[in-house]
Amino acid sequence: MKNTVATFLAMKQKGEKISMLTCYDYSTARLEEEAGINGILVGDSLGNVMLGLPDTISVTMEDMITFGGAVARACNDTMVVIDMPFMSYQVSVEQAVMNAGRLMKEGRANAVKLEGGAAVCPQIKAITDAGIPVMAHLGLTPQSVNALGGHRVQGKSEEGAKRLVEDALAIQEAGAFAVVLECIPAKLAELISSKLTIPTIGIGAGAGCDGQILVYQDMLGLFSGFKPKFVKHFAELGEQMKAAFRAYDEEVKAGTYPAEEHTFKMDDDVLQRLY
Ligand code: KIV
Ligand code: NA
Repeated sequence: MKNTVATFLAMKQKGEKISMLTCYDYSTARLEEEAGINGILVGDSLGNVMLGLPDTISVTMEDMITFGGAVARACNDTMVVIDMPFMSYQVSVEQAVMNAGRLMKEGRANAVKLEGGAAVCPQIKAITDAGIPVMAHLGLTPQSVNALGGHRVQGKSEEGAKRLVEDALAIQEAGAFAVVLECIPAKLAELISSKLTIPTIGIGAGAGCDGQILVYQDMLGLFSGFKPKFVKHFAELGEQMKAAFRAYDEEVKAGTYPAEEHTFKMDDDVLQRLY
């Protein structure tokens, strides 16, 4: 069954949890679709996990279209949301609508996502009015990392929590069909989820959200080293991949790969005439 803005809303109304993962490539998107994931976000986190950048600031529209298109070509039933990169929607409402349109036309997205609350409501309204579903993103908004002073939990103070509730209501009023809540206290995410009629998709926001999202490299254990508190490794694929790379390296050097069964044959008499 095709996942749409309507099915996402219906799932919230029925109390069914929504599963989302990030994805940036065709092969992985096929696996996520086959696993029955409801929605894929082509996140601008591709700057970090695919391009090796220190943050999402430098990610371009062209990056989002290239990686987004690869994912969209793999998906039939999965909803594909593509992130609007930094500075593709902040400058003006007109630029925001044009760039959202490019992600739909060139990236073949089903929806777009942008970061921010009351400040980007004019953009959310205009993009939605153009027939493009908008997912909002509140709490830790990585494109504002320089203004936030680092990657830290948001909405812990009364003032911060109040602003988050107000922003959540504002983006819903502006027409957003869903909202990502990133790195906020679980109780606050639960409160916001109960106040909104649109689904909340949490990351580092506890089980009270209407759905969850994780960066797939994080949940597969593809990165060794730093693991944020909210990440769970559902597999240790990084270790498995490294073991496979090592085994290949050893077999190539030992001459045991390729073996007979991996080898193409030709007629001996054809070969003879070459000598
Ligand atoms: O870019 C991204 O991966 C995101 C999710 C973490 C919500 O915005
Ligand atoms: Na993002």
